[in-house]
Amino acid sequence: MRVASLGIEADFEGWRTAAREFLSQGVTPENIAWRVGNVRDLFADVSAEREPPPFDKSIDAAPMRVPRDFLGLAELVVCHADEGRFALLYRLLWRLREDHDLLARTTDDDVFRARAMAKTIRRERHKMEAFVRFREIADEDGALFVAWFEPEHHIVEITAPFFARRFASMRWSILTPLVSAHWNTRDLVFGPGASKADVPGADHFEDHWRTYYASIFNPARLKIGAMKSEMPVRYWKNLPESTIIGPLIREASRREADMIGAQPTPEPRRSQIILDRMKKTADVKSSAAAVSGHNALGALRAEAAGCRRCPLWENATQTVFGEGAAQADFMFVGEQPGDQEDLAGRAFVGPAGKVFDQALAEAGIDRGRAYVTNAVKHFKFEPRGKRRLHKAPNAGEITACRWWLEQEFDLVRPKLVVALGATALFSLTGLRGGLLKMRGSRVASQRAGEVFVTVHPSSILRSGDEREAAYAAFVQDLRKAAQLAA
Ligand code: URA
Repeated sequence: MRVASLGIEADFEGWRTAAREFLSQGVTPENIAWRVGNVRDLFADVSAEREPPPFDKSIDAAPMRVPRDFLGLAELVVCHADEGRFALLYRLLWRLREDHDLLARTTDDDVFRARAMAKTIRRERHKMEAFVRFREIADEDGALFVAWFEPEHHIVEITAPFFARRFASMRWSILTPLVSAHWNTRDLVFGPGASKADVPGADHFEDHWRTYYASIFNPARLKIGAMKSEMPVRYWKNLPESTIIGPLIREASRREADMIGAQPTPEPRRSQIILDRMKKTADVKSSAAAVSGHNALGALRAEAAGCRRCPLWENATQTVFGEGAAQADFMFVGEQPGDQEDLAGRAFVGPAGKVFDQALAEAGIDRGRAYVTNAVKHFKFEPRGKRRLHKAPNAGEITACRWWLEQEFDLVRPKLVVALGATALFSLTGLRGGLLKMRGSRVASQRAGEVFVTVHPSSILRSGDEREAAYAAFVQDLRKAAQLAA
């Protein structure tokens, strides 16, 4: 029996290194014991003294090509609390040597289990992003924000970068029973676990949370089941607003009756104008959540207007930010604005946008249920006489702009992200090439869960005699996307 001792609970790199080594030696899955413990013991061979290493000589030990979405899946699965997770992943890897399409067999026990575990992790990550509540304390360096959180799985390491992006200018610590994450406005570091007693008691922030929660609580929309699913009861004990949930629910029917009986109050003119404008660009839902989502997107858009993350802003007319529903079912990601988008300040309004709109309609997707954006937010071009010829963004520009895309994804949280073409695919997944092989399917993305892949609508405009077929195939992909998001 071989033993792999991994450094931390969610030690993806450790697992990967060990798995690669075992695989190259042909060590069969049932002959490995995976432990989380002392890293120095990695690859310790506890039985080497007594018996020869259990190699399966029938298996070719040549390096294998791991399918693209396996690594994304594995990064999530290692975060699960199930003790068998490392063994499960190695078994999958072992089986993938012979069965390259294994991950597509969703009824296979191992595949089913791994996918269910990944889904659990995605969900808990999302909950952590939503339910961490910081309390302000001060130390010798000034304000420090501390939060206590109790995850069921080992999600702190993969979720902490979200807080580093979102609260980049604050010093904060998130304490959990097994690990703590600390951000000093530059570096993210992890330390040992803590206890709830290490977090200061209520501060003035708590009242803000309660006031905020009470203000967005709409008694006429109360659905207790849905609310508990969105905000599971096990998180309530660490949420300041939880103390007012009970009274708000108890009062809901009285407040609803009051609302029905009340005379309508006319909207102030200015806010009506703003609402009308918002309704024009997107199917704005009237829930408080949608409105607050729009506010956050609006703030992000305003910030992006002054973006200087790469030199493209210098020649472009303006930043072309994403637009659409704040709680969209779909998030479509294109490459970068073209000439017309650059002038209009809106994504997909030029020739490619027309093809896109028509195909969406044919596939039964309402653009009002979508958020449409680009991997790169400034137009890159080469002047040719009076014309500005589109130039593809390079990897540095795409990487610099990814920050905005991640923020948009975090705010919109769509059911399905659709990569339109190779630039979007690269931005969302880091994958280069192979677009046509992947089109019509989903690939794993560390940044956006899973991404549905299709071609860029401008490729249809360039397909000459094949244009009709190219368009039909694009619509076909979008229909599939619609089914996946249903
Ligand atoms: N092409 C894109 O990728 N995005 C646009 O907004 C327009 C054309």
